[in-house]
Amino acid sequence: MVDDIRRMRAFPDQPPVIPHSIEGYQLSVNTNRCLSCHKREFTEGSGAPMISVTHYMNREAQMLADVSPRRYFCTACHVPQADVAPLVDNTFVDMSELGAKPAGSQ
Ligand code: HEC
Ligand code: HEC
Repeated sequence: MVDDIRRMRAFPDQPPVIPHSIEGYQLSVNTNRCLSCHKREFTEGSGAPMISVTHYMNREAQMLADVSPRRYFCTACHVPQADVAPLVDNTFVDMSELGAKPAGSQ
């Protein structure tokens, strides 16, 4: 199920799932179709959300001019949305259901 609707993250640093089809998108050492829309310089034309600042940081948290090699292969972390049952049961509970009050909610 890919419907172009961005899904809420289960926790703040979850890699968001991809809300659109990626069929046929080339992702190799020489070509990165994802960056042609998601890189800072191209977001104005594509309307895609920019890869976040963390994608420009090296492992010492220093900012680089371009996407970090650690973040180049997008699909190592981001997967397309899929309407399937989990293969393994889990008991994950959202922190807001654990009673954490969002800032500014009083
Ligand atoms: C043709 C432009 C385009 C290409 C190519 C593209 N995207 Fe996207 N992407 C978008 C747009 C636009 C959105 C905003 C939601 C929507 O309209 O689907 C988006 C949304 C996303 C999101 C959701 C972000 C969030 O905060 O929920 C992720 C993750 C993502 N794309 C990853 C990828 C990956 C990985 C690739 C390559 C395999 C890729 N995209 C290729 C345009 C593109
Ligand atoms: C090592 C894992 C990893 C890789 C590789 C990676 N990402 Fe991410 N991505 C994340 C995580 C984790 C987040 C959410 C937290 C953050 O922003 O760092 C994220 C956030 C995003 C967002 C949401 C940004 C926002 O501010 O809403 C987009 C869009 C995105 N990534 C696209 C990409 C694209 C395109 C690539 C490939 C060029 C890529 N990511 C590579 C882990 C990764």
